[in-house]
Amino acid sequence: MKEIKIFCPASIANLSCGFDVLGLCLDNIGDEMIIRTVAERGIRITKITGADLPLETEKNVAGVAALALINEINPGCGFEIEIHKNIKAGSGIGSSAASAVGAVFGINELLGKPFSRKELVYFAMKGEALASGSEHADNVAPALLGGFTLVRGYEPLDIVQIESPSELFAIALHPQIEVKTVDARAVLHPMISLKSAITQWGNVGGLIAGLCTNDYELIGRSLQDVIVEPLRKVLIPGFDDVKLAALKAGALGSGISGSGPSIFALCKGEENAKNVSIAMSENYKNTGISFDIHVSRVNPIGVKIIN
Ligand code: HSE
Repeated sequence: MKEIKIFCPASIANLSCGFDVLGLCLDNIGDEMIIRTVAERGIRITKITGADLPLETEKNVAGVAALALINEINPGCGFEIEIHKNIKAGSGIGSSAASAVGAVFGINELLGKPFSRKELVYFAMKGEALASGSEHADNVAPALLGGFTLVRGYEPLDIVQIESPSELFAIALHPQIEVKTVDARAVLHPMISLKSAITQWGNVGGLIAGLCTNDYELIGRSLQDVIVEPLRKVLIPGFDDVKLAALKAGALGSGISGSGPSIFALCKGEENAKNVSIAMSENYKNTGISFDIHVSRVNPIGVKIIN
């Protein structure tokens, strides 16, 4: 029997302008999973701590992602999975993605890495689909690959890795309310105007260019969302005020993290990030909703084995 312990990082998807295509990997918040090989074939989830999630393989995002992988490769053994959740479900910082990513990464390691990290995105997306009803890769790709990722295309899947500028810090303020991704997707309109599309793809290009050239001001100018944020922010009490507080304190930009309710900000330098996180916390106290807040470097590695 072989066993490994894994750190499965949280992530921030969309990054304002890049709905379903952009994301970044967080460094100091994530789940842990233990995965072991067993003689009996198949996937069994043996333990879950920190969250009330189903143990049945087909009803659990880690189980579904793991099944997608073993159905492809048909290994001569089975796997047991223990999941220790630190990222709350429905928080907007990639809780389901962390579980799906941990499962496929761990099994792939135990099998001697038949797939590259990029190839694992496909299997992890199957778990994400169970959680949200949609196969998007903007959380699973950064959680697997680290840094920033762009889903250049879904058909076929084409993931582009983008290294983070070294001084970039991310903040995620997590109000203790749950917004299910499936509900946050239901408020969106299937059609958008050409005017909004032009604004949005200008910003996506600007953000990518800013990341690639370490142009922090361009990154800040590009963190704008005229399509999704206006429809979703009503699900997040105090969103406009806390975003304004982040910008006034010097954040490069701020917006909804993934499908919410977490609110993210990007900052240049650790000191600025600390000041912005204090300003956001002070402001969010006015809502009376309890919250936690994370300040993190962009994690350059993604999911990893820990001892
Ligand atoms: N892109 C996804 C959304 C991320 O915003 O719905 C959440 O899983």
